[in-house]
Amino acid sequence: MAAPTSTPRRAVPSGIDYWARYQELYPRYFWSEETRLASIFVADAKGSTVRDTAGKTYIDLTSQWATNNLGNVPPEVLEATVEALGRYGFLTYFMTPHVPMIELAERLIENRPSPNLSRVFLELSGTGAAEGAVKHAVEASQRPLILSFLGQYHGLSIGANLIGSLSSHERRYWEAWGGGAVYAPYPFPYRRPRGMSEEEYGDWVLEYIEEQVLGRQAEPDRIAGVILEPVACEAGIWIPPAKFVRGLAKLCEANDWYFIDDEVETGLGRTGKMWAIEHFGVAPDLMAIGKGISGGMMPVAAVMGTEEVMGEAMVAAGTTFAGHPAACVAASKTLEILVRDKLPERSARLGATALRRMKEWERLPTVGEVRGLGLCLAVELVHDKRSRKADADLGRRVFRECVKNGTIPLWNYGDHVVRIEPPLTIEPETLDVGLDTIEAALRRPGTGS
Ligand SMILES: Cc1ncc(COP(=O)(O)O)c(C=O)c1O
Repeated sequence: MAAPTSTPRRAVPSGIDYWARYQELYPRYFWSEETRLASIFVADAKGSTVRDTAGKTYIDLTSQWATNNLGNVPPEVLEATVEALGRYGFLTYFMTPHVPMIELAERLIENRPSPNLSRVFLELSGTGAAEGAVKHAVEASQRPLILSFLGQYHGLSIGANLIGSLSSHERRYWEAWGGGAVYAPYPFPYRRPRGMSEEEYGDWVLEYIEEQVLGRQAEPDRIAGVILEPVACEAGIWIPPAKFVRGLAKLCEANDWYFIDDEVETGLGRTGKMWAIEHFGVAPDLMAIGKGISGGMMPVAAVMGTEEVMGEAMVAAGTTFAGHPAACVAASKTLEILVRDKLPERSARLGATALRRMKEWERLPTVGEVRGLGLCLAVELVHDKRSRKADADLGRRVFRECVKNGTIPLWNYGDHVVRIEPPLTIEPETLDVGLDTIEAALRRPGTGS
């Protein structure tokens, strides 16, 4: 049977005012505005769009938080997943191993960023993958600490939340639980100290690690590894200087630290290469993968690691639903399509074109910076360019205005950065219309409700 090229769009159910019902029921069952950022009641999703219950179509520049990298409901992945569900249902990967988990491991190995990554561990979520990578590093090295960078995000479980440090708000009440991490600043170029070049800022952070972290917080042989987001997406697409990432890898080598690369959001073509770490020419010892791995069809995540770190240690990690057979099939199919259709390259091309256009927005007084790598782009909103003071209220207004006008960008509640991470398959014309909407909102923010 020929592979279907698109799923038919279902009719929106009629006769019920879903919008009114939604407005009434949502606050009754779910808490806080934070959980309904876009306030859309979705009837169906397809490709680069979602449609609400009133029949209005929105351009989806979120890939549902960098998950639906092949677009919403990719038909080939859907078909493979449904077939696998019928064949396997659910099997526990650690008791009754199955064919799809082996096939997924092979696909991951084929597409690894560096040949030292020879082992695979399956998880359920990006959070689980980030924690799983840290668990492997700590248990294999028998050292208790992880060096992390301020502003990184690795998930919201108690462990992952405290390995990262996106915001004090998310750490509230949990601050004391995080004894296992030491932190250094993330060298985010836009907010570097005045008078320093980007590279100098990266050098300064490396010196900070040597002098302040190793000198005052933890001796080198107490640290198991370093966890790095090669691009800190949730923080607002922070792209570190390449020299810094290479310097960090050297520091890892010198101190016997594992280099843990969190690719949960950046991986699988998002930044214009299969893995973001490939922009920096560094070979990680552990890599966390999630989100886009299965085209959004089923939750699954993975950790890849070296023989040394994952070959021996019997690590207490894992979860019942990790490696669900249908999720493994979805992931293998997604990887096949990413490679077959050269989607990382497409992401690089479309992203470069979008970035050129978006850079023009820096002429606006409230746009501090536009930056991006592949289809991972951000607009930093400020009160004024001189102070660079973050303008979260403007972020909210721009986001709301975009949604009102039919385009959904990415926005973290209370953030001053508006991002886009569209499907790697998005049609250039659709992306352009989405950018038109954002541009209009930047020029005239404040009318969004
Ligand atoms: C870099 C990174 N690591 C881990 C996670 C957690 O992934 P999940 O929310 O799928 O558990 C995220 C989620 O945004 C992420 O961006």
